[in-house]
Amino acid sequence: MTDLTSRKDEALRLIQGASSLAELDEQRVAALGKKGWVSLELKSLGGMSPEERQEAAPAIQAVRGEIADAIAAKKDALEQAELEAQLASETVDLTLPAPESPRGSIHPVSQVMDELAEIFADLGFAVATGPEIEDDWHNFTALNMDESHPARAMHDTFYFPDTAAGAGAASGNEAADPKRMLLRTHTSPVQIRSMVEQGAPIRLIAPGRVYRSDSDATHTPMFHQVEGLVIDRDIHLGHLKWTLETFFKAFFEREDIVLRLRPSYFPFTEPSVEVDVGYSNEGGRRVVGGHGDDDGHDWMELGGSGMVNPRVLEFAGIDPKEWQGFAFGLGIDRIAMLKYGMNDLRAFFDGDPRWLKHYGFSPFDQPTLSAGVGVRP
Ligand code: FA5
Repeated sequence: MTDLTSRKDEALRLIQGASSLAELDEQRVAALGKKGWVSLELKSLGGMSPEERQEAAPAIQAVRGEIADAIAAKKDALEQAELEAQLASETVDLTLPAPESPRGSIHPVSQVMDELAEIFADLGFAVATGPEIEDDWHNFTALNMDESHPARAMHDTFYFPDTAAGAGAASGNEAADPKRMLLRTHTSPVQIRSMVEQGAPIRLIAPGRVYRSDSDATHTPMFHQVEGLVIDRDIHLGHLKWTLETFFKAFFEREDIVLRLRPSYFPFTEPSVEVDVGYSNEGGRRVVGGHGDDDGHDWMELGGSGMVNPRVLEFAGIDPKEWQGFAFGLGIDRIAMLKYGMNDLRAFFDGDPRWLKHYGFSPFDQPTLSAGVGVRP
């Protein structure tokens, strides 16, 4: 016992005297390591009779506890001393410039979405959203495109494989399953969802991603549209034209915007019109403004629109005798290219940081009408 006490005192003395973490660890191994003397003492308990063990064990356990506590306390003290020494030796030069941290930028598509939300908010339009994984009924049927409608083929669509919900409606002459899922081909299904959910009157825009099996310099498989929908009493094409003209003037920040509404066909609008805008070519760049029939000018299509087909109102549970409305769908990427002078749509989605650095916007410059929506950093 005396031997145990003196060994312990000696170990505590050495622990106290350790001048570094490495030295302290040597003491830990010597006492508590696998072959350390305390561990051997503990092991020796195994060879004792139960009575002897009962008598000897508490003392050895106590020694082990005391040594372990001493090591932990000394470790804290040594670490603290090390930190203090480091703090005392290092100084912070507050006059040095802060290290440059990488700054992200706003993608032109996000910027343009913010710009158009700002402009349309000023005209009293709310912003609505809908799912990008849409069902057949909302994307086609309720928009007056039944399964044999050629417009379904025009939208070369990404369908999901048959699921439990959509099983049995794969192709051919079978009836289209209204629950068959697909990547929405346009933002127009948001018209249906909003009409069903809120009824008339409605004044909204719905910006978002859409998908088609398309790829060249002006078409990508994923692109962005903004839908517009107004349902009210006594709405006519004049309201549509005024709304789009007012929007384009604010968006392109030019007063000389001329629109041309060209007769067209969409199953969900009647009558339907393509929206063209006059532009000129200046040094290889398309600049919006002026009459498309003037010398050096031409027309460019920016989207489709028309008066909401009464059949669509019926599909969505709105009485067409009481309400009518207009709708439009514009390609956001196209109007972004036109406004900010990019010429290849595919670069929008390559994720090249150099492109983003060049065409991106400062996160701190929120578009506002008072400051000019398209202010560049
Ligand atoms: C439609 O998608 C209709 N839903 C628009 C509409 C809404 C009409 C409401 C009437 C009422 P369209 O397929 O023409 O129409 O597409 C509209 C615009 O999206 C085009 O003018 C073009 O600017 C843009 N667009 C179409 N396909 C692509 C593509 N692959 N890549 C980029 N932009 C595209």
